[in-house]
Amino acid sequence: MVTMQELTIRRPDDWHLHLRDGSVLAAVLPFTARRFARAIVMPNLAPPVTTTAAALAYRGRIVAALPAGAVFTPLMTLYLTDTTPPEEIDRAVDSGVVLGCKLYPAGATTHSAAGVTDVRRIDAVLARMSERGLALQVHGEVTDPAVDIFDREACFIEQVLGPLVARHPGLRVVFEHVTTRAAVEYVCAARPGIAATVTPQHLLLNRNALFQGGIRPHLYCLPVLKREADREALRAVVAAGNPRFFLGTDSAPHARTQKESACGCAGIFSAHAGIELYAEVFEQLGALARLEDFAAHFGADFYGLPRNSGTLTLERRAWSAPASYPLERAELVPLRAGAALAWAVRA
Ligand code: DOR
Ligand code: ZN
Repeated sequence: MVTMQELTIRRPDDWHLHLRDGSVLAAVLPFTARRFARAIVMPNLAPPVTTTAAALAYRGRIVAALPAGAVFTPLMTLYLTDTTPPEEIDRAVDSGVVLGCKLYPAGATTHSAAGVTDVRRIDAVLARMSERGLALQVHGEVTDPAVDIFDREACFIEQVLGPLVARHPGLRVVFEHVTTRAAVEYVCAARPGIAATVTPQHLLLNRNALFQGGIRPHLYCLPVLKREADREALRAVVAAGNPRFFLGTDSAPHARTQKESACGCAGIFSAHAGIELYAEVFEQLGALARLEDFAAHFGADFYGLPRNSGTLTLERRAWSAPASYPLERAELVPLRAGAALAWAVRA
């Protein structure tokens, strides 16, 4: 077999990204802007981005933090709470810059305390979103501490997502960062208008990696890495070129001290290699020819946005991710820290 040495694709988009704010935003944004033309920016700031006014202000701070010459468009989201008014959906749609609303079940993950305690409480909001064509982005895990953490995604499909999708037959839903075979099967069989994002870590690693030679806090994210059979299901569905599954890194920066702690934060930073890591996966799968669809076509098509016009060239050239990147008075440990990556973006 001839190994491909170079791959030019349409400029990709990241359909699920955490940029934070202030000095962290300034530190991480250049990595994404160098690779991706657009990204859906998650609203789980502290306090969360719950209004269109807050999303517009946040968008302004992102644009202001872009490096000179960068061509990058942030696509904004609102954070749903039990008390989001349906009128907020109208404001969001009318703003022209809000692409969806994020459902965090209260307590499911980082900065989700203000999330939704019971989805039936937001049925009027979901109905308005459905009417106005605004997508729902879902963190799909139940929060019941009695449910095993490895079963929380499957349980969410049964108890929450399935019924929600049935109650709102016109609502467009993105099941974010899917991690299990159950989620893959659900999305494949669901009605039109249901899609999913897939992270690099869930395609590259299974839960053994969390405990390889000791506990590995930098590989801890939510939903947590799953078993090998789950990873295989994710890999098979992206290799097959199923248009319901597209790129969303879920790159989520936390300072090293927050990760290496008695109670470490969930989140993996991958923006420094946000397309390179997927190239590695698709190469392993013998599916490099499908990378462009996954990274640059399927997401835009789902969201009804034009595909980007520029291109990005990847080279098969080994490089090492640094042990850490500087953050103001702190350090950020990236995925693959100090280890080799197979693909690089051509300068
Ligand atoms: O690992 C995660 N980190 N999962 C999430 O859902 C949130 C994210 C974050 O914001 O750090
Ligand atoms: Zn996320």
